[in-house]
Amino acid sequence: MNMTAPRIIDVALGQRSYPVWIGAGLLEDAARWRSMLRGRHVLVLSNTTVAPLYLDRLSEGLQGLTWSSFLLDDGEAHKTFANVGKALEALGGLGATRDACIVALGGGVVGDLAGFTASCWMRGIDFIQVPTTLLAMVDSSVGGKTGVNLPVGKNLVGAFHQPRAVLADIDTLETLPAREYRAGLAEVVKGAAIGDEPFFAWLEHQADALLARDQAALIEAIARKVQYKAGVVARDETEQGERALLNFGHTFGHALETAGHYTTLLHGEGVAIGMGLAARLSERLHMSQAADTARLQRLLKRLGLPVTIPAGMDPQQLLALMRLDKKNSGGQLRLILWRGVGRAEIVSGVAEADILATLQAS
Ligand code: NAD
Ligand code: GLY
Repeated sequence: MNMTAPRIIDVALGQRSYPVWIGAGLLEDAARWRSMLRGRHVLVLSNTTVAPLYLDRLSEGLQGLTWSSFLLDDGEAHKTFANVGKALEALGGLGATRDACIVALGGGVVGDLAGFTASCWMRGIDFIQVPTTLLAMVDSSVGGKTGVNLPVGKNLVGAFHQPRAVLADIDTLETLPAREYRAGLAEVVKGAAIGDEPFFAWLEHQADALLARDQAALIEAIARKVQYKAGVVARDETEQGERALLNFGHTFGHALETAGHYTTLLHGEGVAIGMGLAARLSERLHMSQAADTARLQRLLKRLGLPVTIPAGMDPQQLLALMRLDKKNSGGQLRLILWRGVGRAEIVSGVAEADILATLQAS
């Protein structure tokens, strides 16, 4: 295999199974597009940052089809119901029938909104994820969670709607800002930390290559994380159990993101700090050792990720925000903790005093 040969990972969901292609030069590959599309109508959903960079290349792949584009303004603030309405209008304007397809060209914001729009048009049409951030390649584009935000909270409205394919063209990462790229690496580390110790050890050896965006290392990292997530999704598509493990670091992380009004920390940065806190709490509960926490934090730091709570954030406020997490039930906090690298667990009923002490010590 040459260094840039595409990799393919199958997300095994019976008749709804789909491939995740990972490689270079995929956007403009017309033959691949023809093999993935059922009909002739395509709506490309993107944003005002990504479209000027990559829509021309994608249009080469879509030659001969009836397609148009709908662009969101850039940012989480635009992942709204109002924009779903506008995207549905754009499908109407295109004359889209049930065999139409939405192509999501962008990061997780575009992908989540595009998938939700696809789940609504004529009660569900195809969509293809073309993730252009590392976070979207390794996490949000795979697994079929779609949705939008409401003024009262993030991701409160949505549907499980699996894509028909995912096409991760790593050439697009060349223009991704360094901070966004590192935030994506946090989601790579998360997959290894939860359930794949050999992958974690590989990341420790490949940290410099990954920071340099070396193509071979990148393809391998994306493929291994997607392979791990695909297995979890295949076993627990709608998060009745195991899939909740993918939220390692997220209960702490979401509280940190919210406390920072979604401007202080990127999602991946919140997850990086949150994973460290989950590891410390596990240590406090005698589930894991100090050496496990140190190993995780060492890798995160090497990858340029934050591992401490930003100055000025109040532990009591963070705890209050954690009580609002979607995973909680029956008034009990439900957290993803671990027994060391590769061994995460769902834990209910953790005493708030232990969580607070962990926050205060960090
Ligand atoms: P994002 O979509 O906002 O993209 C980050 C920034 O990078 C944006 O400014 C975007 O315009 C820019 N960008 C994207 N690709 C680029 C490129 N190739 N070159 C230059 N700039 C580029 O953020 P994200 O981190 O990709 O995704 C976050 C979203 O994903 C959140 O809404 C979150 O809720 C969602 N999410 C969903 C899931 C899921 O399972 N569905 C999982 C994790 C996160
Ligand atoms: N990002 C968490 C999940 O897909 O379940």
